[in-house]
Amino acid sequence: MPTDDYEAFQEAVLRVMHLDLRLYKREQMERRLRAYGQQHGFSDLKQLAKALGSEAALPQQLLSYLTIHVSEFFRDPRFFEQLRALLPQLPGAPHALRVWSAGCSIGAEAYSLVMLLSEERPGQPYQVLATDLDDQSLDKARRGLYREEELRQVDLGRRRRYFAAEGKEFRIRPDLQRSITFRHHDLLADPYPAEQDLILFRNVAIYFTEEAKDQVLHGLARSLAAQGILMVGSTEAILRPQDYGLRQVRPFFFVRV
Ligand SMILES: C[S@@+](CC[C@H](N)C(=O)[O-])C[C@H]1O[C@@H](n2cnc3c(N)ncnc32)[C@H](O)[C@@H]1O
Repeated sequence: MPTDDYEAFQEAVLRVMHLDLRLYKREQMERRLRAYGQQHGFSDLKQLAKALGSEAALPQQLLSYLTIHVSEFFRDPRFFEQLRALLPQLPGAPHALRVWSAGCSIGAEAYSLVMLLSEERPGQPYQVLATDLDDQSLDKARRGLYREEELRQVDLGRRRRYFAAEGKEFRIRPDLQRSITFRHHDLLADPYPAEQDLILFRNVAIYFTEEAKDQVLHGLARSLAAQGILMVGSTEAILRPQDYGLRQVRPFFFVRV
């Protein structure tokens, strides 16, 4: 039995949205939820929970509000420089490299990776899967149309090579768009893909509880092929890589042992 209005709300979210809020840090989630309620004229979480069952568009709106989607191309460029240096170590042709951008948001991370692959491993086959919980972000990723500020870290050469200007925005080259499979996936509930050579898991676990983060890291490590590489962000620091069968090779890079 729920003991307070937040717990009752968690139950409603699980029932209607299939999202388990118990796996996210309560303080941050509750603060955001109450702010959302106030901004949209709900007097309390009880009323918001009730509306979840009756207002068709509300679950997706709330999900997009609760999850943070900030992203950009080559976010934290030094990470991508380190990744570039590791790419030659990954299995080459005829093996099609399997890459997974887990928590891809608007797709900028996956597209940045594909640019690096085409520069560092020209002509070598790859399959890139990019997944997220939020369908609005995935729609934007599939559309491939970006604002200038999302391209802050993209130099002029790459802008010319990989984008076409469209009004004030920039459209990603269609062949890059076709090379990525964008798919809805909940890291806290859905089965993981197998035999991945490289997984990018960055800036996603920030609101996960420690238990949820631990569960996800075990899952990601199991998803790696032998010698596969897991790249994390600063919010996903892995203190005891050996607990997951991983070995640290650079500050934010781990290899499956
Ligand atoms: C801040 S963005 C990070 C995007 C990209 N990885 C980057 O570093 O730029 C975090 C993303 O994690 C997604 N996310 C949060 N919880 C998730 C879950 N349980 N399963 C899959 N994605 C999730 C959010 O929807 C959001 O798009």
